[in-house]
Amino acid sequence: MRKPIIAGNWKMNKTPEEAKALVTELIPLVKDAECDVVVCTPAVCFAAVAPVIEGTNVKLGAQNVHFKASGAYTGELSAEMLKAAGCEYVIIGHSERRQYFGETDKTVNLRTVAAVNAGLKAIVCVGENKEEREAGYTDYLVAYQTLMALHGLTNEQIVETIIAYEPVWAIGTGLTATDEQANETIGVIRKAIAGKYGECVAEKVRIQYGGSMKGSNVKGLMAQPEIDGGLIGGASLKAADFAQVVNF
Ligand code: PGA
Repeated sequence: MRKPIIAGNWKMNKTPEEAKALVTELIPLVKDAECDVVVCTPAVCFAAVAPVIEGTNVKLGAQNVHFKASGAYTGELSAEMLKAAGCEYVIIGHSERRQYFGETDKTVNLRTVAAVNAGLKAIVCVGENKEEREAGYTDYLVAYQTLMALHGLTNEQIVETIIAYEPVWAIGTGLTATDEQANETIGVIRKAIAGKYGECVAEKVRIQYGGSMKGSNVKGLMAQPEIDGGLIGGASLKAADFAQVVNF
């Protein structure tokens, strides 16, 4: 029932010229995709990418958003700015932002509410690190991160929001959670949403897996009943690799 969504997270890669070349190559490769297709590019690439993807099934996303509409927030971008630049989606609370840029569950929540209220689709990232998994805290942590991020949204807004479960130990490491591990933890996230907002809401929320997802493992992950897509880092930087994931 839930339409899968595959999103590329380019992180800090690609100049505008390289971005344009990548999406130009990607568009024909993914035109028959049965899932939603998103590329989350660096903000400096929006102007190069937006006109190229116009009218195609490839949608544009950002990698962060500020929670204020405007003001003295050097280096930040507002939801309205992202929308004006052609973005429909925005990644919020990626583990790299939590790890290196002081992102907290509180700021993730503020950013999520601001993005969703402005009409952007938020891709909210949650996930445990290696120590937390080994200590047995994964389920508590992902449930907490998810509910904190969604706090203040209406049920209608929550069903439009995407959660990306990304175990930190699997990001960029080549280590993937097993299909069953990913499915199980995503099930925990869905149960947490059901506990607070009801089954009807939880059943509609799309929850992606992310962490070294690529052409060679996408089929197994996507065959799991709880997994509704992927957030793809390394394998989204080449059109052919990303297309292989999209056309799982
Ligand atoms: P990866 O990154 O696919 O390179 O592991 C995923 C992510 O960080 O979103």
